[in-house]
Amino acid sequence: MNSMNNKDTAPQAGEASATDADALPPIQQRIQVTFEYPVRFSRGIFSPENALLREVMAPNDQEIAFSRKAICFVDANVAEAHPELLDKVSDYFAAQLDAIPLACPPIVLPGGEIVKQDPAHVDAVINRIAEYRLCRKCYVVAIGGGALIDMVGYACAIAHRGIPLVRIPTTVLAQNDAALSVKNAVNAYNAKNFLGTFTPPHSVICDADFLATLNTRDWMGGVSEAIKVALLQDADFFRYMEENVLALRQRDLSAMQRVIYRCAQLHLDHISKGGDPLERGSSRPLDFGHWAAHKLESLTHFKLHHGEAVAIGLALDSTYSWQMGFIDATQWERIINLLTELGLPVFDPAMLSHLDTPDDPASVLRGLHEFREHLGGPLTIMLLRDIGHGHEVHEMDLTVVVRSIRILEGFFKKKA
Ligand SMILES: NC(=O)c1ccc[n+]([C@@H]2O[C@H](COP(=O)([O-])OP(=O)(O)OC[C@H]3O[C@@H](n4cnc5c(N)ncnc54)[C@H](O)[C@@H]3O)[C@@H](O)[C@H]2O)c1
Ligand SMILES: [Zn+2]
Repeated sequence: MNSMNNKDTAPQAGEASATDADALPPIQQRIQVTFEYPVRFSRGIFSPENALLREVMAPNDQEIAFSRKAICFVDANVAEAHPELLDKVSDYFAAQLDAIPLACPPIVLPGGEIVKQDPAHVDAVINRIAEYRLCRKCYVVAIGGGALIDMVGYACAIAHRGIPLVRIPTTVLAQNDAALSVKNAVNAYNAKNFLGTFTPPHSVICDADFLATLNTRDWMGGVSEAIKVALLQDADFFRYMEENVLALRQRDLSAMQRVIYRCAQLHLDHISKGGDPLERGSSRPLDFGHWAAHKLESLTHFKLHHGEAVAIGLALDSTYSWQMGFIDATQWERIINLLTELGLPVFDPAMLSHLDTPDDPASVLRGLHEFREHLGGPLTIMLLRDIGHGHEVHEMDLTVVVRSIRILEGFFKKKA
């Protein structure tokens, strides 16, 4: 029976009053949604013989009864380092994806953090989505570093409330972390990732061939995210990186592929099994080292890349963990040694400014407050209690943070 016909509950004309409204039983809405997206690894994904992208984008193309199309955005530094790429993308779509033709030739956008800093780039992506009349059954393909993928992802999430995004990450960091996530963002109001949404991608396709053209900083920078997850969850993985420092420094692709894959597994497991994929709580367990990292990126006007800033953030929070007695000196040395032997930074002079005025926007210490504000709720910071085991705290003693910064400064001066 239709419940609106029920005399006891159906409102009668002229009967409404505040009292009646108060008496109405509450309705508790509950929605469960499952997201699923493939994360695939390959090489030469735009070679004519590689069917992966077609399989992922058009698995049942014979069943499609309406016209779909795609737009592809490419990181300018990737396009420059791979001069054949734009033609290969066009050729691939023409040959393999006739059910989803490109609406226009691939569009090149700046790479690096600048693309998250200037809102004109978000507008540019949305304008193209509107101009080529993409709908929610069409695709955007983003080829580039984590910054370009974050920005294009944000534009796709808000256009028509969600255009499916195929992420093709081209840096170590984007393949082992940024592109796998359910988040996207751009920077605004002087804050990293101020604007963004939780929107899972349609799919993620990692092509190891792109990594060959990364400069040394971005090749190694992404390893800091792997060290981060290893420190929190996987002591064997940490040891693997210790044992493969030389291979990683010598740009051994198979060693890097193993680092990327294990790091990707740990990140993806955390998202799907960690219990809080949309970060509704106040804790962000995999953001170890990130309160300082995000602040240092903006304090250095992004001269420090994300991965480098993360390396410094890990060094700082590991030093703090040691100074608080959570880990011992030997464990601390292993962490600092791994970071430095990989050529990752553990200190930046920007950490020294305004240490006696922690609320000053130019102080790295202000990053703690900004980190809490971004998440909401009580401050929750991940620290270490062993290599392979994290440990959350709800306050940090600023005198110990400053002492930790001084220790890293001393270490930095000794090395210089
Ligand atoms: N969404 C998330 O959950 C998440 C997670 C981690 C990081 N991020 C974001 O990711 C960004 C960092 O990503 P990133 O480390 O990839 O940096 P990036 O995107 O800034 O790329 C680094 C540099 O490498 C260039 N580049 C990219 N691929 C190349 C290639 N194959 N050959 C030559 N040059 C290439 C880029 O143009 C850029 O200049 C930050 O903005 C960070 O906030 C997001
Ligand atoms: Zn990060």
